[in-house]
Amino acid sequence: MNSKLVTQVKHKFEENFNAKPIMVFAPGRINLIGEHTDYNEGFVFPAAVDKGIVMAVSKTTRASSTAIALDLNESYDFEMKNLQPLADGGWRNYIIGITAEIQKLGIQVPAYQCAFSGDIPNGAGMSSSAALENSLVFALNELFHFGLTKTQMIRISQLAEHNFAGVKCGIMDQYASMFGEENSALLLDCRTLKSKTFSIDFRDYQLLLINSNVKHELSESAYNDRRAVCEKVCKDLHIKALRDASLEMLTSHKEQMSPTDFEKVSYVVEENHRVLRFSEAIENDDLKALGQLIYDSHEGLSTKYQVSCKELDFLVNQTKGNNKILGARMMGGGFGGCTINIIHKDAIDSFSKEIQKKFKKEFDYDCSVYRVRLEKGTRLIEV
Ligand code: GLA
Repeated sequence: MNSKLVTQVKHKFEENFNAKPIMVFAPGRINLIGEHTDYNEGFVFPAAVDKGIVMAVSKTTRASSTAIALDLNESYDFEMKNLQPLADGGWRNYIIGITAEIQKLGIQVPAYQCAFSGDIPNGAGMSSSAALENSLVFALNELFHFGLTKTQMIRISQLAEHNFAGVKCGIMDQYASMFGEENSALLLDCRTLKSKTFSIDFRDYQLLLINSNVKHELSESAYNDRRAVCEKVCKDLHIKALRDASLEMLTSHKEQMSPTDFEKVSYVVEENHRVLRFSEAIENDDLKALGQLIYDSHEGLSTKYQVSCKELDFLVNQTKGNNKILGARMMGGGFGGCTINIIHKDAIDSFSKEIQKKFKKEFDYDCSVYRVRLEKGTRLIEV
């Protein structure tokens, strides 16, 4: 967590509202493996990172609430009644979405004032939206003593995303951002919401993110389309979720679906298996197997699930044959954002320079390289 950012948010809050806030940090996340498996009630392997959203909140005596997005220098006032999603509302929909979803539980939410800022690169696929949602629901729960559990809070965050941001996301991002642990990743079963903590030590290797800086315009509708395909196939097969499907089952019903739908649902079943094999490889300290599973995940996402793009494929292809890199793949929902790479510590500087140069030559703009630390989940911060 960036302590300078915390101080800045606190000062700005005090300047604007002339009140003392409570402060909350909610991290973004990475995901080692298990993409598009969460809404299929499968397995994922995310971790919370040291970048995220800093939120300052206090009560107010006014009847309406105010939220300030400090990075955008935008402010929004809203009444606490009849909250509805706004067309092109951007960040505002997360704020009113969280407020409305708490209200839907029969909880009366008093007016409040908040200001927030973040250091998750925009559009990087590191879940700045889940961090924003979690930071607000956590802060309101503290402020007004609603008595919500962390699991209730992540469900509220997810519903805000579904009903106000319009993305029918799974639970991975909100879970990782809420429950993350230091230097660890979480093997999460998205059906039971139980996770197992794995301390992450790749010995001479480290995680490195490379942001393609691509933000795909259609990513939200494409995301919802993928989810709809999975749900339709489950309905036709009379199963609850693709978690319950095997490749044999899918193959025996192949005639009932289009070839591209068959590819998509096969990808989900295969990726689910990969997550479990990945956790075994960590337990066996088998770095080579880890790397191969990561490459296989990318291949499936790109060719079968079709959520990659040429920039992400380029970034992954450039790592192939480099014996300092164990594996690389696109991360998150897709259509842009980052690749996650497991790279030898000695090669980080030289590879970063090399990939930036090659990327620029190919696409005529810059990619960005980040190192991340794995940190604790959403929490109160004392300043
Ligand atoms: C986005 C969603 C998650 C998950 C990933 C893909 O980040 O918010 O729920 O589905 O995409 O794995």
